[in-house]
Amino acid sequence: MIRLDALLSRFGYCTRSEARAWIKAARVLINGAPARSPSEKARPHSVLIDGQPVEFPDGILIVMHKPAGCVCSRDPAESPSIYDLLPARWLRRNPPVTTVGRLDKDTTGVLLITDDGEIVHRLTSPKHKISKLYEAILDTDIPAHAAELFASGTLLLDGEEKPCLPAKLEIISPREARLELTEGRYHQVKRMFASVGCNVTRLHRSRFGDHALDGLTPGEWRVGPHIFP
Ligand code: URA
Repeated sequence: MIRLDALLSRFGYCTRSEARAWIKAARVLINGAPARSPSEKARPHSVLIDGQPVEFPDGILIVMHKPAGCVCSRDPAESPSIYDLLPARWLRRNPPVTTVGRLDKDTTGVLLITDDGEIVHRLTSPKHKISKLYEAILDTDIPAHAAELFASGTLLLDGEEKPCLPAKLEIISPREARLELTEGRYHQVKRMFASVGCNVTRLHRSRFGDHALDGLTPGEWRVGPHIFP
């Protein structure tokens, strides 16, 4: 049970102070009957707002096909942002929806977004070894020793003290490869390729854990399923 003013603000409908007006206008029903006061308590599943059930009362997980040219930041100075592609109400949820890690502005592909901190932790903590698959195009031929080096668990990136966890490199053509990682360091794919003398000219993430695009086109997204990996 949660107070109605807290519920309305938790799920992004209005602020706690606006809740009184929403309730007075009979926009909020509990078990089919108009709510009476912001302090009244209810289970989110028994509440209707403007005739609709509360959106994703158990948390939300969004799978987006991140388009090139959008940042994963909410700073208006860096727009356009992937957050512009989502319903405004989801950004007002508290906690708000946030990306699970980030993709660079020019990277495309699977981006997960959630308001569930536990999911963020499970998907990003190196301890859980969630696999992410990247497809990269390089500006120069991939050297023969790259796959062995990436798999070795000894590759030390510039400025870091801990070597990268073993990663699987599959060379598709001289300048095209798939790289599977189980961690997510800053610009990791680009820095790993830079360590063997290659610049990444195009980067696409085709899978994050069990989540793939499954037909989503750039800028499209779908919700859920909200399950632990
Ligand atoms: N590694 C990178 O270098 N960039 C990304 O966007 C994701 C992984």
